[in-house]
Amino acid sequence: MATGIPRTSSRHASPCGDGNGSHTRGLDVTLVYEGKKTESEILATPPAHLERLWPKRNEELRENRFIFGENLRVLAALASDVSVRGHVRLIYIDPPYATKSVFQSRNQTHAYADILDGAHYLEFLRERLILLRELLASDGSIYVHIDDNMAFHVKIVMDEIFGRSNFRNWITRKKCNPKNYTRKTYGNVTDFILFYTKSNDYVWHRPVEPWTQVRASEEYQYAEPGTGRRFKKVPVHAPGVRNGETGKPWRGMNPPPGKHWQYPPRVLDEMDARGEIYWSPNGNPRRKIYLDQSDGVPVQNIWMGFRDAHNQNIHVTGYPTEKNPLLLRRIIEASSDQGDLILDCFSGSGTTLDVAHRLGRRWIGIDNSPEAIKRTLARFANGLEPMGDFVKNSVKARRLEMDEPTLPLLDLFHQSPPSESKNATHDPIRDFTLYTEKPYDSSLSEVVVEWEHFFKGELHCAPST
Ligand SMILES: C[S@@+](CC[C@H](N)C(=O)[O-])C[C@H]1O[C@@H](n2cnc3c(N)ncnc32)[C@H](O)[C@@H]1O
Repeated sequence: MATGIPRTSSRHASPCGDGNGSHTRGLDVTLVYEGKKTESEILATPPAHLERLWPKRNEELRENRFIFGENLRVLAALASDVSVRGHVRLIYIDPPYATKSVFQSRNQTHAYADILDGAHYLEFLRERLILLRELLASDGSIYVHIDDNMAFHVKIVMDEIFGRSNFRNWITRKKCNPKNYTRKTYGNVTDFILFYTKSNDYVWHRPVEPWTQVRASEEYQYAEPGTGRRFKKVPVHAPGVRNGETGKPWRGMNPPPGKHWQYPPRVLDEMDARGEIYWSPNGNPRRKIYLDQSDGVPVQNIWMGFRDAHNQNIHVTGYPTEKNPLLLRRIIEASSDQGDLILDCFSGSGTTLDVAHRLGRRWIGIDNSPEAIKRTLARFANGLEPMGDFVKNSVKARRLEMDEPTLPLLDLFHQSPPSESKNATHDPIRDFTLYTEKPYDSSLSEVVVEWEHFFKGELHCAPST
């Protein structure tokens, strides 16, 4: 393993103010492409005009916002809203990936088209990222989910917009099971999440995974005589020569050449008195790190456990490209606190909104696909369904089989009381206001009626009645 010495002296500091920028000192990379607008042109985007669809205008406004509309104009509108601009603590987006594909839900309904490519695609994303930066709080974070199609171009654009020194991680996610490719390439089972922050000072709750017995005993190989506590041995010195206390001899021993003690000799004495130093048979000190003092295994930048729907028992909405809720849970818990405002302007089936809600965060979701809005409302009402159910038969077909009356409209919401519904443990989400961008083509009118109907039905069935 490489043990390079971090250069932190002012002689080596990056112009951007921290270690990250130093890698590109003197290398000012920007992408030049056809149709690239100036930032001021983008910031002057005409804002969307929004109209409430639910609850009705005479009813109480709910804080979370779910918006049907073109996200560029909606973001421009949010940028002039003082309660949003500079107050969004976390943004997660999972935009189109320039796949040149059209996506359908599992019930064959058109969901969205991902047909922009090249410079058009990049500028589409850049415009939105510039507005998103305006909305982000000074201690906020943004995660952009992308695949290998455009990831490198998007990285450079994000460096331009957020500053390279605010780049935190390039996360690799295992998205699916291995594929049996017949093409002459390696199987493609990953996509990527680019993590940036607005500044150096950002909300961060380091995620850890629990130790497994095997992993713990591999890493913490020793048991302390007397206490039985498991520990591992690590060096008590670090790379680099120091002239202060940590460069002085300890117990008559100098630090190894080119190194310094990790602690001043006085502290090393205290640690030794507490039994925290292990002495090898030939008299070399090592530091003991105990398993019982570890919160868990710190999460690294390869995420294996968040594949999207990969077997028939996984619960989904049926919307294409919907992401694993546990992935969103990791991101939201790491980069926000309870009560924080979370934004997803490509919200699809509502994964971010659902998870944010259940973790006690406030949220804003935007999508311009009627199918996305419908699937999200169905998810809010009923929760998710086992993926196998979409394959076996639709909700409507099941009702016909069971000789139940079918719904006149979209068949998205179950009419049965929660206790009888197939997802009885689901707690519906209704603490939001649904808006549409104007002019509105009425494409959601049926689903809104059905949504209202669903909740009126639910109120009749409250446990107290
Ligand atoms: C990859 S999907 C997001 C899936 C989502 N993460 C989920 O878990 O379901 C991308 C979404 O972006 C939406 N979208 C694409 N262009 C948009 C635009 N200009 N304004 C608003 N939404 C847009 C599409 O309708 C689609 O639902």
